[in-house]
Amino acid sequence: MQNGLEDVIAAETQLSDVDGEAGRLIIRGVSLDHLVAGGTYEGVAALLLDELMERSFDEALLRTWLAEARARVFIHIEAADAALFALPPVDAMRALIARLPDGEDFDTAIALLAAPAVFLPAILRLQRGEKPIAPDASLSQAADILRMLTGRLPTIEQTAALDTYLVTISDHGLNASTFASRVIASTQAGLTSSVLAALSALKGPLHGGAPGPVLDMLDAVATPENAGRWLADALDRGERLMGFGHRIYRVRDPRADALKGALKPLIASGQVDSVRSELAEAVEAAALAILKARKPNRPLDVNVEFYTALLLEALGFPRQAFTGVFAIGRTVGWLAHAREQALDGRLIRPQSVYIGPLPAAA
Ligand code: CMC
Repeated sequence: MQNGLEDVIAAETQLSDVDGEAGRLIIRGVSLDHLVAGGTYEGVAALLLDELMERSFDEALLRTWLAEARARVFIHIEAADAALFALPPVDAMRALIARLPDGEDFDTAIALLAAPAVFLPAILRLQRGEKPIAPDASLSQAADILRMLTGRLPTIEQTAALDTYLVTISDHGLNASTFASRVIASTQAGLTSSVLAALSALKGPLHGGAPGPVLDMLDAVATPENAGRWLADALDRGERLMGFGHRIYRVRDPRADALKGALKPLIASGQVDSVRSELAEAVEAAALAILKARKPNRPLDVNVEFYTALLLEALGFPRQAFTGVFAIGRTVGWLAHAREQALDGRLIRPQSVYIGPLPAAA
């Protein structure tokens, strides 16, 4: 038995498949590169949830339902105690989500998809002393998130980049938070409880808390010329290079290329600091070369976190909010898995091997 359950198959799913050898991610029968080609958050969310809820989903319907739900959940910001907004963003988000009523599954699911998208920008604004901005029902979820964050209508390239990010991270096999969501769903505790458990799992640094350190690394490297020497020194100190390596992928993480592609139009139109993007290019190239030389038997390539960090920074999110943005995108995966598990109907209840002392003989 492995303590990390590496080799244990714990669910059958129709939702997503991660092929670590081929570097391929499939979501409901569609490969990631197809999904990100002009795909929207609402499109992938409808794909994941269709046939799992009481009603059928499509992109246009979901856009309308989410627009209405964003307005409904915004009132929870106004009703919350000020002390809650002093918490780290993910903790504040979790406290606000915990206040949502757990009703009929369809309504609950729509509220849970809208809530993190409304709560995170409001939390970030309140934390920097600004007033939260109410949602705009005429916008897509991605465009409205950026508008609620900055107070300005985003450009087409910015909205497309956030859509690509949200599509790219919508689901990814049986990762820790998704497994947590399924365990809770199997007890029939309700969708809100599944999402709260998943969010609690996500905030750990071994799961969703990694992209901030990629920016810390770029800050420390500081100039392209310094990349090779800084990275070599970091490896000499026994450190890992942030944004490289993966438990499952033995080749390049396909999500890294999806996000790198989303950055290109922003770079081409001057909406990303070119000094930052040139530094990132230099760090990526130097890291790949040095990792290949130092670890010839272990394929180590870029993972999703490297370009997540660059993309979210370019869109104006502070690094302490990156895990919260991840949660905005991953909630649909958690919900789809929770529904899939609940429809299966079987309680998840594994066993453990007792290795403690036995009672003393009488
Ligand atoms: N930098 C330097 N060496 C590395 C790295 C790295 N980023 N990743 C793995 N290695 C080395 C490691 O030192 C070990 O070498 P040796 O065999 O000589 O001791 C070898 O590769 C295998 O390491 P491992 O710990 O068995 O690999 P793992 O599959 O358990 O680790 C990982 C996966 C993501 C934890 C690791 O690659 C890492 O720490 N990366 C940096 C942090 C990071 O970018 N995290 C985000 C990952 S993507 C998250 C997601 O998909 O949700």
